[in-house]
Amino acid sequence: MSDSYHHDPAMRQLREVLTLAKSMDVPVTVISGLEKVGELMKKRDDYCDQKTAGPSEAMAALIKDTLEHPWKQLYNEEKTKWDINPVMMSGNLEGYVLKFLVNASKAKKVLEVGLFTGCSALGMAEVMPNDGKVVTCEFDPYLAKLARTYMDRSPHGKKVQILIGSALDTIKDLAKSGEQFDFIFIDADRPGKSEYFHIALNNLLAPGGTIALDNALSGGKSYMTDTPHDDRIKDVNEIIATREDIYHVLLPVRDGIMLVRRRTDMNYK
Ligand SMILES: C[S@@+](CC[C@H](N)C(=O)[O-])C[C@H]1O[C@@H](n2cnc3c(N)ncnc32)[C@H](O)[C@@H]1O
Repeated sequence: MSDSYHHDPAMRQLREVLTLAKSMDVPVTVISGLEKVGELMKKRDDYCDQKTAGPSEAMAALIKDTLEHPWKQLYNEEKTKWDINPVMMSGNLEGYVLKFLVNASKAKKVLEVGLFTGCSALGMAEVMPNDGKVVTCEFDPYLAKLARTYMDRSPHGKKVQILIGSALDTIKDLAKSGEQFDFIFIDADRPGKSEYFHIALNNLLAPGGTIALDNALSGGKSYMTDTPHDDRIKDVNEIIATREDIYHVLLPVRDGIMLVRRRTDMNYK
């Protein structure tokens, strides 16, 4: 199934309209036209995937295992804290966007909020120097343990430090100990994103650093005006967009990545 289906409300709407059209007396040219729109959207996604560099062997195994993992059964057996859908994994394309940003900015210390099975953490580690470090937060011990096994199968896994516990407590502790990070990827717990963002910007971002906030489009809730939004991503986007001291761009990659830097860190005004 195309990734767009999960993140793009236009794709979901198209499917609903198609089902409706097929149940009505609609000319076949209209139906095939609608089907063509869906195909084009899927082909665009597939083309981007195909023309993006492929994963390392360890990453390919991580992605495959994550997709095939018996998440439902584990949840029913109370081994995971919540009912996991592997669609939340960043995957190869978004992973490469992160890799480019981390590598191009020569980041040596990365903070990630939201590990899952380690796709983005390992991806970023793969393009960092040997003394580079990715510190990542995860509150589910099962996921932390599973991700560690994937990390241990890669020569870059040793750069990844997994901190188990509430991300808020973890990043507050990191801030208290004066830790600074060149790149911060916030990819967990939508209601908590605003707080993570403010702590990251005010206390954890090293001079010249970048913050990437995942799910900035929130499955369309950020821009759909006819649906009440039940999370605070839209509010975070508004704050970022109106602050004079922040430089930002919202990339429409998967569910949207908002990139943020301090305006004083840019070379021009
Ligand atoms: C969207 S997934 C992260 C995906 C990951 N970055 C990747 O690329 O595969 C979010 C993760 O954050 C974890 N999480 C959610 N809320 C959390 C919290 N309050 N503290 C720590 N971890 C949390 C979830 O268990 C989940 O594994």
